[in-house]
Amino acid sequence: MENYVANSFDKNYAAAWSMDQGGFSAGLAQNLLNYLKKNKINAKSCLDICCGTGEFLGYFAKAGLTCAGTEIAKSMVDFCKEKYPTQSFTLTKAIYDLPVKGKFDVITCNHDMVNTIERFVDWQKLFKEVEDHLTRDGVFMFDYYTKTKLQNWNEVTYEESDNMDHVSAIRKGMDNKCIMNEVYYIKNDDGTYNKTFDVQVEAYFENDEIVAALNKAGFKHVTLCNFSLEPATDTATRNRIHVIARR
Ligand SMILES: C[S@@+](CC[C@H](N)C(=O)[O-])C[C@H]1O[C@@H](n2cnc3c(N)ncnc32)[C@H](O)[C@@H]1O
Repeated sequence: MENYVANSFDKNYAAAWSMDQGGFSAGLAQNLLNYLKKNKINAKSCLDICCGTGEFLGYFAKAGLTCAGTEIAKSMVDFCKEKYPTQSFTLTKAIYDLPVKGKFDVITCNHDMVNTIERFVDWQKLFKEVEDHLTRDGVFMFDYYTKTKLQNWNEVTYEESDNMDHVSAIRKGMDNKCIMNEVYYIKNDDGTYNKTFDVQVEAYFENDEIVAALNKAGFKHVTLCNFSLEPATDTATRNRIHVIARR
């Protein structure tokens, strides 16, 4: 464990995030693998945009797919390269940067990372880039926080567990934005703590304009789903939507 480092997304944050949020990635990976099986899609490769510690990709690697990830944080790329030496990880400058060569059967971007794109024109850029990097029957899966969730989100929560404490402070920002502060205090054996944190701005857009942008980018079949990746019947009131987009 490194001593306290005042950098967002350092190695301590990776460890804390993984303990706190790893279950979401595990469940979603399993649901997507089930979706592929149910729809008889024989996927051989997967690219996870914003791959973090490779939590999600790990399940696809285990299922025999060739995996790749893009990341904005060098610490995450280094972490993934060490953990999965045979897979490919690329350091990028923007979420829509997909400098990875070749086409993929599956492209994912989970954990509302798409909401970190503040301008809608850049969501459109991402959708087009993804479409360009998919094989003919490829599947794009991503999730986002809806306007319902973000438009008035002001909340402070505190959770304590045996190995760490977590303080989350979320407040409504200007226009369509929310500011999220996540602080983890990781407990050491000697009773001291390692503090690590992240600050993130997330923006919301309307469900209809997101679907229209996906169609415009070339996705003919767009389904708004729940976490199980089944069509959602309550899209107007949902906090988070998982999208399955096919060409
Ligand atoms: C929620 S975590 C990743 C989770 C991962 N997909 C999984 O399920 O295992 C989000 C990651 O996105 C990265 N990130 C944030 N902004 C990014 C951007 N613009 N481009 C690429 N990666 C970004 C962060 O560094 C962080 O590691």
